[in-house]
Amino acid sequence: MALFPTARLRRLRANPTLRDMLRETKVSLDDLIYPIFIEEELDDFAPVESMPGVHRIPEKKLGAAIKEIHRAGIKAVMTFGVSRHKDDTGSDSWNENGLLARMIKRAKDAAPELLVISDTCFCEYTSHGHCGVIHGEDVHNDHTIENLGRQSVVAARAGADMIAPSAMMDGQVAAIRGALDGSGFSGLPIMAYSSKFASAFYGPFRAAAGCDLKGDRKAYQMDPLNGREAIRESLTDEAEGADILMVKPALPYLDVLSQVRAHSLLPLAAYQVSGEYAMIKFAAMAGAIDEHRVVRETLGGIKRAGADLILTYFAMDIARQGF
Ligand code: PBG
Repeated sequence: MALFPTARLRRLRANPTLRDMLRETKVSLDDLIYPIFIEEELDDFAPVESMPGVHRIPEKKLGAAIKEIHRAGIKAVMTFGVSRHKDDTGSDSWNENGLLARMIKRAKDAAPELLVISDTCFCEYTSHGHCGVIHGEDVHNDHTIENLGRQSVVAARAGADMIAPSAMMDGQVAAIRGALDGSGFSGLPIMAYSSKFASAFYGPFRAAAGCDLKGDRKAYQMDPLNGREAIRESLTDEAEGADILMVKPALPYLDVLSQVRAHSLLPLAAYQVSGEYAMIKFAAMAGAIDEHRVVRETLGGIKRAGADLILTYFAMDIARQGF
């Protein structure tokens, strides 16, 4: 390797065209998935205070909202329901006429080419806010994965393009694959939230999704300080038949992302979660940072670390302003 003064790395940084041509990482709308919140029995768009710029969409206005999202150039949304019909199992989520099924149908009717990815979990539909059925003190794994299978089939029948299980139950990918295959949906892909941490960065989401969790999720989501276990989680989901793996949150876990990238040939997604979004928004509102440049840097960093796809609440801003 040549050294200075022969090597001058600044030669390739000298002009903007050259810098554009040599940029190693590019982010486009093809890479982004836009998470949206749909609330039943709501009349108007309701701002989420902890996530400036994010609104809960009233179910009755979902068609118009989806058309706008599609027109802006977004390729895919991840749907979250805000339920008024909660019970202790989250059964509304596998009711053929429940919110989850209705919102998927409405979204697909409004813009058939827009991909609808169904977040597959129970916490938005359970009265206790946990991601499954409670037996005694704990979320019961095997009962919950059966229900995840039911919910996935209902989402598939409603027209979902992809199933994204986020409950962090053991065996959930295999259970969902089995349920889908058994109901004629062997062609429907699964994007597994495979390395999902019990993160404090989900704080603003819980307000957005109207989730009244008592306690925490440490008995099913991963310890944020574990890296090796995260690889094991992802490889387990791959072995169970996941089509796409996911690391969540994104920015504090770039090491995990790059290691999963090194251990698997599957496409990889990363979720820039509500707390990551809120930190950037509030810091920009306080005048401390330049929002657009920071968004670009974080999304670029997440891709550079190995993500093919990024779930981000900034997707609409990118669609409107460019990357
Ligand atoms: C669970 C789910 C959560 C998020 C996405 N899916 C919340 C949780 O696990 O507590 C968080 C997303 C975010 O913070 O942006 N269904």
